[in-house]
Amino acid sequence: MPRIAPDELLAIGFVARRSGTRVSALRYYEERGLIRAVRSEIGRRLFPRHTLRRLAVIAAGQRIGLSLEQISSTLSGVPADRAPTQREWTRISADWARLVAARIAELQALQNDLEGCIGCGCLSLGRCTLFNPSDAAASEGPGSRWVRSASAPTSTGQTKP
Ligand code: FES
Repeated sequence: MPRIAPDELLAIGFVARRSGTRVSALRYYEERGLIRAVRSEIGRRLFPRHTLRRLAVIAAGQRIGLSLEQISSTLSGVPADRAPTQREWTRISADWARLVAARIAELQALQNDLEGCIGCGCLSLGRCTLFNPSDAAASEGPGSRWVRSASAPTSTGQTKP
């Protein structure tokens, strides 16, 4: 890979190859304000070199399962005209570590609930915490509508998410 001068402006194709990000994704990130380009005289997008660092941060956030909204929120604290400093990256990664820990705790609780269902099959809205966390359905009367609404097949035979 060629060396890039600090003030060099990079074509979108180069940024895509160098960062491993699709051109369409780069355009989308720019639309969402995650990265910023300037325009050449003929209207082509040109990205400052520090965009590669911001893209690395975006890729890291996606790798740990963060949404673009979460990543965008994080990067909103870093001015768009430069890469995150080491101190900023330390703060960002510490925030993300807390989000990952919270997600792990949620998944652990879900796994515990699911293990209680193995071999049970009751699908009880009164007893099964997987279908009815904290018995939230009790206030709406009897019936299995919650389970059906979560797993009803669509007209294409797919299950709703
Ligand atoms: S299916 Fe019986 S407890 Fe979940």
